[in-house]
Amino acid sequence: MVYTEFVSADALIRNVKRTEQKLGISDKERPVAIQIYGREVDAVVEAARITQEANPDIIDLNFGCPVKKVAGKGAGAGLLRDIPKMLEITREVVKAVKLPVTVKTRLGWDDNSKIITTLAEQLQDCGIEALAIHGRTRSQMYKGEADWTLIGEVKNNSRIHIPIIGNGDVTTPERAKTCFDQYGVDAVMVGRASIGKPWVFSEMKQYLNYGYVKDILTFDEQKAILKQQVLDAVEWLDDERKGILHSRRHLAATPAFKCIPHFKDTRIAMLRTEKLHELFSIIDHIPQPEQEQLYE
Ligand SMILES: Cc1cc2nc3c(=O)[nH]c(=O)nc-3n(C[C@H](O)[C@H](O)[C@H](O)COP(=O)(O)O)c2cc1C
Repeated sequence: MVYTEFVSADALIRNVKRTEQKLGISDKERPVAIQIYGREVDAVVEAARITQEANPDIIDLNFGCPVKKVAGKGAGAGLLRDIPKMLEITREVVKAVKLPVTVKTRLGWDDNSKIITTLAEQLQDCGIEALAIHGRTRSQMYKGEADWTLIGEVKNNSRIHIPIIGNGDVTTPERAKTCFDQYGVDAVMVGRASIGKPWVFSEMKQYLNYGYVKDILTFDEQKAILKQQVLDAVEWLDDERKGILHSRRHLAATPAFKCIPHFKDTRIAMLRTEKLHELFSIIDHIPQPEQEQLYE
């Protein structure tokens, strides 16, 4: 299952075109959740109604984004400092739409307020159908290690009956399996490990099913997937330049090119071009690294 990037409720109700574009989903992506965020009950409810029209499988409420311009204004993780309002938003959105509503949040605002155990029960009582927990506080932002102990505690709370999705530092197939085995979660959510490595999901699934990764991709297959990702972005945004800009960070971060000697100039050229044929020619000419480097 995939989630969209979070979509601003305020921008949605103001019909901001760039924001409406973020509601665009394709059937290939199903099941798909569209995630929205906001700080006022009415605005989020109205945005949820608009989102429902885009026909996702799930509407997800973001109560986890830590960045200043979101959390500082009382949206995202900012609502961890106003639980009554978070619960009211959740309750009202559940009432307003027919689709299943889920929530993504963090352990709490900071080290002194790791309230997730109680909060999970309260959110469940609002009628959500699953809860994703990122095992960090807002204060931690993305730093330090995700603490899965509390995620496990929520999952093992006998009063919790909705699926619990654990998130934070699930970077390898082995780690995904440990998270399932050790903490009993119903699903794991993968964030950063997928940037530049969209095949990480397939590797994790294979490992969970067979105990090993059956189909390790060749270098050329990895390159083909990265190129397809750029093409998909160009098609989705209906613009060559915008599609390239959108997918650049994935190319910049991909582990596929990490071990290539003297790569700096190629990397700069790859991240500078705004033309598809140039970009693909650069990628096509990247030489296959030594075998032992490839699968590190
Ligand atoms: C660039 C970036 C953008 C993100 N955007 C969102 C978002 O829109 N919605 C969301 O719920 N989480 C978002 N996250 C957080 C991730 O979903 C995830 O909770 C976090 O990175 C921890 O998981 P990970 O260790 O697997 O990356 C974002 C993270 C990064 C690095």
